[in-house]
Amino acid sequence: MDRIRIVGGQRLSGTIPISGAKNAALPLMIASLLTRETLTLHNVPRLADVNLLGRILGNHGVDVTIAGKRPGQRTTDGQTFRLTAAEIVDTTAPYEMVARMRASFWVLAPLVARCGRAKVSLPGGCAIGTRPVDLHITTLEKLGAEIELEGGYVIARAPRGLTGNRIELSKVSVGATHNALMAAVLAKGETLVENAAREPEVVDLGNCLIRMGARIEGLGTSTLWIQGRETLHGAEHTVLPDRIETGTYAMAAAMTGGEVMLDGARADLLQEALQILRLSGIEVEERATGIRVARNGGGLRPVSVETQPFPGFPTDLQAQLIALMCTASGTSTVRETIFENRFMHVQELARLGAKIELKGDTALVTGVSGLRGAQVMATDLRASVSLIIAGLAAQGETVIGRVYHLDRGFERIEDKLRQCGAHIERLSS
Ligand code: EPZ
Repeated sequence: MDRIRIVGGQRLSGTIPISGAKNAALPLMIASLLTRETLTLHNVPRLADVNLLGRILGNHGVDVTIAGKRPGQRTTDGQTFRLTAAEIVDTTAPYEMVARMRASFWVLAPLVARCGRAKVSLPGGCAIGTRPVDLHITTLEKLGAEIELEGGYVIARAPRGLTGNRIELSKVSVGATHNALMAAVLAKGETLVENAAREPEVVDLGNCLIRMGARIEGLGTSTLWIQGRETLHGAEHTVLPDRIETGTYAMAAAMTGGEVMLDGARADLLQEALQILRLSGIEVEERATGIRVARNGGGLRPVSVETQPFPGFPTDLQAQLIALMCTASGTSTVRETIFENRFMHVQELARLGAKIELKGDTALVTGVSGLRGAQVMATDLRASVSLIIAGLAAQGETVIGRVYHLDRGFERIEDKLRQCGAHIERLSS
């Protein structure tokens, strides 16, 4: 298993290109199951999860090709994927696949909507909580699918197709909203989704579905209206920039007292997080081509934050914020309201000298004057990157084990940080 070695204490300075969003690219790729024609996606990030999903879709019969490099294209430009599901050859998503990536469970809705049946293993994914799928199941039942749970699989049947209905999600769920959209666009009649997720990645999926011929209104609000169609057609769509990668590098720059330009980042996708950074004393400047973040000399002020569905502070930035607050001048309060087990980074940050007390769903982070390098273990995707951020600021050497988590969600992270002066290298086993 690869490890990452960091010698901390260097200020990050330079430009970091922001990749396409993992959490948009995955549902967009899955949307290719909804049509016989080709869906072309630009700005797809180079990530282990994207590759794995490509293989999973291949099993269902999707022909996935990645366009070759064009003249003038930079290595930092995203990839172009062409996905064609002319024929669905298999409506089963097996345990071995789905257990490795939770988002692959989302093939359930498009498979039932298009083929009238699907058998999908219950998901795995990052160990950050129990992560049930009840909302996905009730959504499909509302649209007329019959669902059975058997041997760890969800078996859904709708031999006469799905029918539009009113769906009220009892909890805001990104995945269940993706599923509702992908099911309703091929259902007969109208569907109303209430308490829908407003995350930019949901909006991106909705916009792509509209390009494929779907009728959807209300994207970006809690109420979505969908008029089902008999078929959808091919389309071209560009994946939106990754707001979590943006926030992560902003915090890394701030923690090292550096200054970076986040090229291609969109401030409107993470206003709440940027506001928190400003409150903690970091300079954040929104520019036409990206976001400039700087902390030149000034100390960090503690903050009080609660994770919330969009437009609130994202749970996917909670671990990174805790790392950042480890050296603030005072005690920060960080409450996690989305996932019940998302504090695995806390004990690892403590190895670097962080002072963090956990009280139920809240972390009290008391700033220390500096962190010291140590050997630590990555536990999930965002926790891993919080250790990188802390390691960059810590004095001495930090070695992070189990970094395969990172490769799932951060494209070329060592290259991007090294370009800005970080001493970081991958130690291959
Ligand atoms: C998406 O997961 C993201 N994953 C997660 O990012 C992100 O943390 C999460 O949304 C919240 O923003 C992808 O986009 C691939 P949810 P998802 O359904 O859709 C509960 C990362 O690091 N719930 O919005 O699985 C659930 O337990 C990952 O990139 C139910 O109770 O999350 C949680 O408490 C990690 N029943 C809350 O809803 C259900 O049927 C929100 O989860 C579904 C969810």
